[in-house]
Amino acid sequence: MKETCLLCLMLLFCCRSNQSGLTVSPSRSQFFRGESVTLKCEDHSSAGWTLRRNTSKGTRTLCGSGQRLPDDSSCEITYILPSESGVYWCESRGGGASSISVNISVSGGSVILQSPVLPVMEGHDLTLSCQSQTPPSKPSAAFYKDGSLIRTEPTGHMTLQHVSRSDEGLYKCHISAHGESPSSWISVSEKPTTTSAPSSSTAPPPPLHAWLPAVCVGSVILLLCLVVITWKCLQRKSEEEPPPEDVTYSTVSILHRFSRPSSRGRFTSN
Ligand SMILES: *[C@@H]1O[C@H](CO)[C@@H](O)[C@H](O)[C@H]1NC(C)=O
Ligand SMILES: *[C@@H]1O[C@H](CO)[C@@H](O)[C@H](O)[C@H]1NC(C)=O
Repeated sequence: MKETCLLCLMLLFCCRSNQSGLTVSPSRSQFFRGESVTLKCEDHSSAGWTLRRNTSKGTRTLCGSGQRLPDDSSCEITYILPSESGVYWCESRGGGASSISVNISVSGGSVILQSPVLPVMEGHDLTLSCQSQTPPSKPSAAFYKDGSLIRTEPTGHMTLQHVSRSDEGLYKCHISAHGESPSSWISVSEKPTTTSAPSSSTAPPPPLHAWLPAVCVGSVILLLCLVVITWKCLQRKSEEEPPPEDVTYSTVSILHRFSRPSSRGRFTSN
């Protein structure tokens, strides 16, 4: 039963892994100037990852100088600045593989659009919130997609139900007397197809994070096999070979007693 527990633990561990390979917390794409943001490369393999960003200040620079963990795989920006807006991603140490990349926008003004930082899955609901830095007298917000007004919501929240690829676009919002948020690109990802049709040969190879669950499950199965084989081997060994030391000792002592000429002679004469 020990292996079953081990398997369950490992499966839990694997399933918990974030497939995007990059987490942003708080999990949204827009921030007010001065907010604290933590970015982490999530990876359970031994490969090392480095968090990089493209901002107006540079290309492929390390994330948040001075606030990084020693291994560069995560960073905590304690006071984010508008100049730190840009694309953030994780890159393997060798530079060969990359995680999904995310757009982070830091508002220089007093309104942000709370939008998901990761792509929204097709068919899921998408909730957008328009938030001002100081409580608005009226929370009513106008939401725009690709420059056109789509809805005005008195609550400041807007939900798009069962999103499809056509909902993809550049979104922003506006609260009267407070101003406008930066724009954020919201992407909608395809539903993973269970019965995958033969994919066209022109399709790019799947990104690394798509392979991680398969690799993880494979490792678990391999490890489980090793554990079972080792366990079986040990069991068989202990069954086949009786403890040798005791037997040797008792044999020696019996032989020793019976091979004494004096006692043997006495025994036969009686
Ligand atoms: C970062 O910028 C460089 C140079 O402009 C570009 O080649 C690269 O694709 C960018 N990376 C991302 C993830 O956008
Ligand atoms: C980032 O934003 C640009 C437009 O502002 C968009 O073209 C690009 O696809 C976005 N990248 C991601 C990863 O969302």
